Amino acid sequence: MFRLSVVIPFLTLLISVLILCLLGPKILLPRQISISVPDELDDLSLFHKAIAAETTFPKHPSHKKLRLGSATVRPPKIAFMFLTNSDLQFSPIWEKFFNGTKPVDPHLYNIYIHADPSIKISPLMGVFKDRFIPAKRTQRSSPTLISAARRLLAHALLDDPSNSYFALISQHCIPLHSFNYFYNFLLDTQKLSRKMEFPSYIEILDESDSLLDRYNARGENLMEPEVKFEEFKVGSQFFVLTRKHSLMVIKDRKLWRKFRKTCINVESCYPEEHYFPTLLSMEDPNGCTKYTLTNVNWTDTVDGHPHTYHPSEVSSQLIYDLRESNSTYSYMFARKFSPDCLNPLMEMEDSVIFKD
Ligand SMILES: *[C@@H]1O[C@H](CO)[C@@H](O)[C@H](O)[C@H]1NC(C)=O
Ligand SMILES: *[C@@H]1O[C@H](CO)[C@@H](O)[C@H](O)[C@H]1NC(C)=O
Ligand SMILES: *[C@@H]1O[C@H](CO)[C@@H](O)[C@H](O)[C@H]1NC(C)=O
Repeated sequence: MFRLSVVIPFLTLLISVLILCLLGPKILLPRQISISVPDELDDLSLFHKAIAAETTFPKHPSHKKLRLGSATVRPPKIAFMFLTNSDLQFSPIWEKFFNGTKPVDPHLYNIYIHADPSIKISPLMGVFKDRFIPAKRTQRSSPTLISAARRLLAHALLDDPSNSYFALISQHCIPLHSFNYFYNFLLDTQKLSRKMEFPSYIEILDESDSLLDRYNARGENLMEPEVKFEEFKVGSQFFVLTRKHSLMVIKDRKLWRKFRKTCINVESCYPEEHYFPTLLSMEDPNGCTKYTLTNVNWTDTVDGHPHTYHPSEVSSQLIYDLRESNSTYSYMFARKFSPDCLNPLMEMEDSVIFKD
């Protein structure tokens, strides 16, 4: 004879074990988001619209119009594209960047924000109001971060033909110089008048310890034949692209077909650090400086995250150090900073960060 008091706990245990075995892997491992067909079609129609509109826009307003005299001047603009999956912690600093003691001419920039729909953004004032573009979910180690960046590029291309440079910025980024310094660096009027080709500022590197693992993250040799291992590059996710290169990125179908595949080896899966440098180095290597304008500190990296600066490290010397680069020009942005760095950074806005 079974006694009920023994059978019931036993059955409960058995059922619990069964449930855990069936659902456990789904609960314990965060599942990679794959991109659904409707989402993909949605993006494609946006890209088509932006590509089609480009042919109707007047030719690159930056060079031509500037020389027609001040009456018809339509200066080139910079599109600032914020990619975020948390609150925009440093929005007061960016607010000051755009609208500091001397407000910046609003005709020199546009702002676009792609905020992950799952997060709640605190009410933002001023320059950030109404600058949100329709966003979709993003996740680390998945191609969704590439999609979000391409969505930002397409919206910015479509929105304003005067957008001439497209800067991708994260919520952990801070500016290291004033808006005017950045604008004059990118759109140097001497370069404009000499009709020099404008480069894109994107890091393109051939080497990294784990490059082969990253190449095979979707499966052994799966990137072939579109991308050979020699063509596979690595670089910073955050870039400043020209209009020509931004169009190139949203026109691409060939590489995206491969990069949109989910990874088998999630540990080596950083699609957004490979897609843009690989594509641009295949299509126009000489049009890119191969340097990024965003300083990231990879010393003592943990779990694929760069060093995060905390308030005790924030000083004017840190800002000066972060500007130093190995190229001929200064870094313009830096990441990552913890949210509680906001106050110490704000204290040195006028005396250090925005002082040219
Ligand atoms: C920007 O600066 C102008 C001029 O000082 C001011 O009128 C405006 O309110 C400022 N906007 C924000 C959002 O601070
Ligand atoms: C980079 O991070 C390391 C610690 O990970 C730190 O010691 C170093 O000072 C940082 N570099 C700069 C320029 O702040
Ligand atoms: C410059 O390059 C050298 C050698 O590659 C490297 O050790 C150094 O950290 C770099 N400095 C900066 C500021 O990037």
